Amino acid sequence: MRQGLFAAAFAALLTASCGQSAQPARPTAAEVEYAARAEPSPPALAALYDRSCRTCHGSAASGAPLAGQVSAWAPRLAARGADGLLASFRKGRNAMPPGGLCPDCGDDDARRIIAFMSTEPTR
Ligand code: HEC
Repeated sequence: MRQGLFAAAFAALLTASCGQSAQPARPTAAEVEYAARAEPSPPALAALYDRSCRTCHGSAASGAPLAGQVSAWAPRLAARGADGLLASFRKGRNAMPPGGLCPDCGDDDARRIIAFMSTEPTR
């Protein structure tokens, strides 16, 4: 009985903290500036990124976690891991369309773009 109550409370806590991590962290001016110009390499990957992901992940107005905005990506990675983020990309998530408007992005391309977006800017 006690254990059941505890489990219910724990489930409620989990749900609450998941809701919180879905809130986009406010990007700084430097993060907004970086995301507006950043793209992954090599050029073939940048081409995929430029015509799909960039529309949202390069612009703060979209509400998407920005490329290079590590504070917005870290909780997502911690909660779902790299495979979970790939799964969200395929299935879609809230305002994120399934496949990220990139029908020809393979899993490998998507993983490399996600790694680029979720890590610290290098330039
Ligand atoms: C139309 C806008 C849009 C486009 C295009 C887009 N995204 Fe997103 N993406 C979003 C938004 C908004 C979120 C935040 C969704 C949320 O958690 O509420 C997001 C979140 C994500 C996440 C995190 C999912 C999670 O589980 O937290 C990944 C990974 C992702 N996008 C990958 C991509 C990739 C890769 C591309 C390009 C191939 C792409 N997105 C294109 C809007 C977009």
